[in-house]
Amino acid sequence: MQVNLRDSWQIGPVLVPSRLVLAPMAGVSVQAFRRQGRRYGAGLVCSEMVSCAGIHYRNERTLGYLRIAEDERPLAVQIFGSEPALMAEAAQMVEAAGADLVDINFGCPVRKVTKTGAGATLLEQPDRASGIVEAVAEAVSVPVTVKMRRGLEDGSRTCLSLGPQLVEAGARSLTLHPRSARQMYTGEADHRLTAELVELVDVPVVASGDVVSHQRALEILESTGAEAVMVGRAAQGNPWTLREIMDGVEEAPSRAEVAAELILFVRETVRELGERRAASFLKKFYGWYLRRGGFPRPFVQELVRLESTQDVVERLLIAEPEAAAALARLEAELPDSEGTVVPLPISAYGGG
Ligand SMILES: Cc1cc2nc3c(=O)[nH]c(=O)nc-3n(C[C@H](O)[C@H](O)[C@H](O)COP(=O)(O)O)c2cc1C
Repeated sequence: MQVNLRDSWQIGPVLVPSRLVLAPMAGVSVQAFRRQGRRYGAGLVCSEMVSCAGIHYRNERTLGYLRIAEDERPLAVQIFGSEPALMAEAAQMVEAAGADLVDINFGCPVRKVTKTGAGATLLEQPDRASGIVEAVAEAVSVPVTVKMRRGLEDGSRTCLSLGPQLVEAGARSLTLHPRSARQMYTGEADHRLTAELVELVDVPVVASGDVVSHQRALEILESTGAEAVMVGRAAQGNPWTLREIMDGVEEAPSRAEVAAELILFVRETVRELGERRAASFLKKFYGWYLRRGGFPRPFVQELVRLESTQDVVERLLIAEPEAAAALARLEAELPDSEGTVVPLPISAYGGG
């Protein structure tokens, strides 16, 4: 049976309008990234992982991750932590902030997270992991989902025993990145495990890992029976890849279009993070975007060296004067960016 990436599907009552999901990525998945992902066809977007301790202690920067715009929805906010009660409390804040789904991170392999007993560590602690899902699912009325890796060690099949337990505990969808935590991002995602997981649970499964083309997306959907595919690294600074994965048609964006998207991304990110944080946060994106536009490397290096984002925007407009008109067209089509769904019970941080 031919799957269509434009088909909608559901997580409980939440309608997801396409089978492409934009991956949560720490240091990448800011609101500008998520909104852009939605414009280019992602049916569901996710925040980067947010610390439940940070929420508990009302850390201003952490709470900033809970700012949600109407045009991002449906949107999942992902939380991480190891204490069921704290996770439940964080989930309530996430729901109050207007998220459609609360996603729980059982996959992060980074030591800073695993040493606190959170992230991928929980793959080997099924009782605690189930306890977290149960506590979170009881605390909120929106659906609770889980994102996990295959296990801690190479060759591990832990996800196949844990997955059904998490569903039993209340998870309404599972996303599997079938690499071990030890693998980090090396080797390949083994989607034969995704197929096995699909057989074992009666909730939608999302396949994450190495989805880089239309062909690969279809192969994974067809061979696994997963409901949707998740795109991560391929979409960094490259929203056009989402459209290509969706339609299978490669249409290289013009340099003006690339520069215009980058300028919009810079502006939105400055508004979200404030100039100081945004200026350093954005540096990695210049190379990602400009590779797509075929800009020469020395130009990328020049942008990275500039101090203010305003200088970056000016330099882009000098290099590609037609970007100004492309940007005006883009901005005219954008939905109103102002409305956060629910005003947060905190001071607005960053650039307002
Ligand atoms: C820079 C970076 C940050 C990531 N941060 C998160 C995260 O916060 N939460 C999470 O569940 N996965 C995170 N991931 C994993 C991705 O969501 C995804 O599962 C993984 O990159 C495999 O998909 P890909 O091959 O399409 O990149 C991150 C990946 C990268 C590359």
